[in-house]
Amino acid sequence: MIKGIIFDLDGVICFTDKLHFAAWKQAVEPLGIAFDEQTNDKLRGVSREQSLEIILRQNNVTLPAERKAAICRVKNEIYKSLLCDMSPADVESDVRQTLIELNKLGVKLAVGSSSKNTKFILRRLDLTKFFDAVVDGEMILRTKPDPEVFLKAAELLCLSPCDCLVVEDAVSGIDAGNAGGFVTVGIGAAANYSATRHPIRKLSEVLTLV
Ligand code: BG6
Ligand code: MG
Repeated sequence: MIKGIIFDLDGVICFTDKLHFAAWKQAVEPLGIAFDEQTNDKLRGVSREQSLEIILRQNNVTLPAERKAAICRVKNEIYKSLLCDMSPADVESDVRQTLIELNKLGVKLAVGSSSKNTKFILRRLDLTKFFDAVVDGEMILRTKPDPEVFLKAAELLCLSPCDCLVVEDAVSGIDAGNAGGFVTVGIGAAANYSATRHPIRKLSEVLTLV
């Protein structure tokens, strides 16, 4: 029986793809580094630092560590300023309704995200109150496909991985969920991934799995 659900944040609970895209574009293009939507798709579920490595590799550019750290800082400042335009009205009604229903059913809920902005985003969207635990990019050493973020969330929920769903939109997140022994649910791009146990088209479909 499913006792808990661990949700990825970006692409599952909220839709920040365009904001990440705009922020990376503004941070790297003035440096003569190209960045397009196709590369942005490869950054789904990938940490900020690893995202920059992917962008640099695509451009055959190598930079010293301090320079890379500075670019990541600039990207995050731009990204955070874009996040400030988000409000609770930006939460899809299907998402908010699903969280309300799951709370009523007594299913334990957590967020497991690589994003270091997770808590900030949840606050801006007024979603913090729905979750029993939040594990973010500040709390882990290894990013997805390593299962650390989800294992930590299950531990905080006091549940075994096999009793929890992991809901993900990224292939690396589905791999992380499977590696940790969770029951994986794929939405968006991850719905078409062969290793996804339960593909769904909208979040409320998780209600059929609990
Ligand atoms: C993930 C996003 O949730 O968080 C990635 O899918 C992003 O695109 C990663 O790079 C890290 O985010 P942040 O907010 O810490 O820069
Ligand atoms: Mg995601």
